[in-house]
Amino acid sequence: MPLFSTTPMLQKAKADKHGIVAFNVHSFDSIFWVLEAAAEMHSPVILQTTVGTVKQLGAQNIAKVAATASDYYNIPTGLHLDHCTEYEVIKQAVRAGYTSVMIDASMHPFEENVARTKNVVELAKSLGVNIEAELGKVSGVEDDIAVDESDAQKAVPEECKKFVEMTEVPTLAPAIGTAHGIYKGKPDIDFDRIEEISKLVDVPLVLHGGSALPDDVVRRCVSLGMAKVNVSTELKNAYSEAIRKHFIENPDSLDPRTYLQNAKDAAKEIVKTKITMVDSKDKVVSSFV
Ligand code: 13P
Repeated sequence: MPLFSTTPMLQKAKADKHGIVAFNVHSFDSIFWVLEAAAEMHSPVILQTTVGTVKQLGAQNIAKVAATASDYYNIPTGLHLDHCTEYEVIKQAVRAGYTSVMIDASMHPFEENVARTKNVVELAKSLGVNIEAELGKVSGVEDDIAVDESDAQKAVPEECKKFVEMTEVPTLAPAIGTAHGIYKGKPDIDFDRIEEISKLVDVPLVLHGGSALPDDVVRRCVSLGMAKVNVSTELKNAYSEAIRKHFIENPDSLDPRTYLQNAKDAAKEIVKTKITMVDSKDKVVSSFV
């Protein structure tokens, strides 16, 4: 299948009351094993890369590899640019074939966030590329964007409504108490706030900080309209831990196929667990129109 815009993918998931996981990928290899695991689950999936990964691997290379892998594994796949603050990188991604981009202007005042988001909506929406924007502030570290816990801010429902009306953004990531990375304490998820936002805005919502959240918490968020669930840290941890373990047990190992296979197996397990969590198993369709 070709790469799909994530707008119809997420609208359908929301209507069908399941989520779609967006997995952060950091290498060409990971594009293949995420899709291999998703194909084994017969599940739609979103691949996403940070700006750092785009700068390291190249937007065009990533988009070409993702398109090839999506064609090979034959499951609905979206390709998303995560947390981008730079208009030029967004332009590069759109030109390269990304089917979704996030403009993260959440660190700016409301009006500035609106203006920056509108610019990206103007650039991308007519091309069928999805746009995601953030309101409030999600704490933790994602690539080179770091938000201290004390600066975290939950999104204001009335502002979400105003923001979507003013920008016409097709997907919105409101901060509702999750954090990027592994939680130090019990996450304080504001379900009432999600419900209120969902009543006021029609677009699919995005849950950032999906790693290490209890399954029932994620399922409740999905049932309240959070159709896209982002997972990065848990995938990186499983992959790296398998390599670390391999070298502790086999310090003289030289064949990348051995430790990369272990890492791939461990990461694929996470992909499958998260797909089960959002209930997107066996939800493959051939088109979204
Ligand atoms: P985690 O690293 O907590 O899974 O968060 C991922 C994310 O939200 C990417 O934008």
